[in-house]
Amino acid sequence: MAKMWTGRTSGETDRIADDFNSSISFDCRMYRQDITGSMAHAAMLGQTGIITGAEADELIDGLQGILDDLDEGTLSFDPSCEDIHMFVEQVLTERLGDVGRKLHTARSRNDQVALDLRMYLRDEAAKLTELLRELEEVLLKTAQNNMKAVMPGYTHLQRAQPILFSHHIMAYSMMLLRDMDRIADASARMNVSPIGSCAFAGTTYHTDRRFEAERLGFDDICRNSIDGVSDRDFCVELMSALSILMMHLSRLSEEIVLWTSWEFRFVELSDKYTTGSSIMPQKKNSDMAELIRGKTGRVYGDLMALLTTLKGLPLAYNKDMQEDKEAVFDAVDTVEMCLRVMIPMIDTMRVLPENMRRAANEGFINATDLADYLVKKGMPFRTAYKISGSIVAECIARGCVLDTYPLEDYKKHSELIGEDIYDEINIEHCVETRISAGGTSSVSVLEQIDWVRGRLGSR
Ligand code: ARG
Repeated sequence: MAKMWTGRTSGETDRIADDFNSSISFDCRMYRQDITGSMAHAAMLGQTGIITGAEADELIDGLQGILDDLDEGTLSFDPSCEDIHMFVEQVLTERLGDVGRKLHTARSRNDQVALDLRMYLRDEAAKLTELLRELEEVLLKTAQNNMKAVMPGYTHLQRAQPILFSHHIMAYSMMLLRDMDRIADASARMNVSPIGSCAFAGTTYHTDRRFEAERLGFDDICRNSIDGVSDRDFCVELMSALSILMMHLSRLSEEIVLWTSWEFRFVELSDKYTTGSSIMPQKKNSDMAELIRGKTGRVYGDLMALLTTLKGLPLAYNKDMQEDKEAVFDAVDTVEMCLRVMIPMIDTMRVLPENMRRAANEGFINATDLADYLVKKGMPFRTAYKISGSIVAECIARGCVLDTYPLEDYKKHSELIGEDIYDEINIEHCVETRISAGGTSSVSVLEQIDWVRGRLGSR
């Protein structure tokens, strides 16, 4: 089949050049957006009198037929077509003859591909947002159902202060909420129509760009046709948001890997989301979490690949830009897969509060509360900090903890310490008295859960 752009050149490209140039193997996934965009374009051409109303109707019917046939699998993509845009136009022309040849009036593949990609990605962004909402629901449920689980909170991966497990989970909930906001921001900026920019300079036909934009559900049109075909910020922005999201999923995954180890045993994953070892019979590995952590690098890589591709490109369209699609498709596919695994993995995860509580007993995580106790009795904080430190050192030397350290020994460090110290440094008490906004007490954590629920409800 002769190439549609045969004109100045013979179009007889070498086979290897054809393969190299072709994008249909990956841009075919945008066929629905491509055909819907073409239908709006045909309608606009008819509406403005650039073609007749009857011709527009014929084009729209023909396009609908192609869409139906592709949906039903009775038409398959022709790999010898350069890209999805050429394929649709070729089939249309085969089916309609000369009328089919009118579709590409006042349009270029440059604005067409920019349109398709925006439409495709806004749908993907909506899908990912729904999955994020599901993950949020699972986190809220996990937090709500485990309000009594007390664990050591960590800094430098050293036991630091006691917290509610739910407080820790809610930290991830906050991150995901920001991820949802970032995707919503990217989607809003993306939802601007480039169609009608044509090759890049606009057109002499009296087109109606707003008509097309409205029909395709865009909020506005790109105001500069050169920018309309050259801009791939919307891909970069979505991939940046997805990279941040993956960073969050990766941090959570890392904690799951830690928590499921015998060293921690804070949670146990369902057998459905773990694997065994081919040699060590005792193993139960958190492969899904590790893979999510691993795939994070891949999404960062996609973002870097596109940023690097774009950085030296002069305006307007350059073929380099065809490289945008595999990167951004890989990023959205990867994130979607990770979310689809993360949701049920967390949902079926068993929390083991006794093990968390045992870990909370050790590590002197109530030492801050001992210092605060002395401060409340009138001692300056820095002095209280020093005294508490030397008590901890003595406990370590003797092999006891603050809760079992005898009162008479406490008194040797400070006369201010009385019998009430034991209540004050009780781990549950330490948690429940941290009532500051955003803190770890159950009152504060329930407030956080409510707040996130409200934000999710109002979206
Ligand atoms: N397949 C091309 C891409 O993905 C479509 C645009 C082609 N435009 C051109 N002037 N060759 O970027």
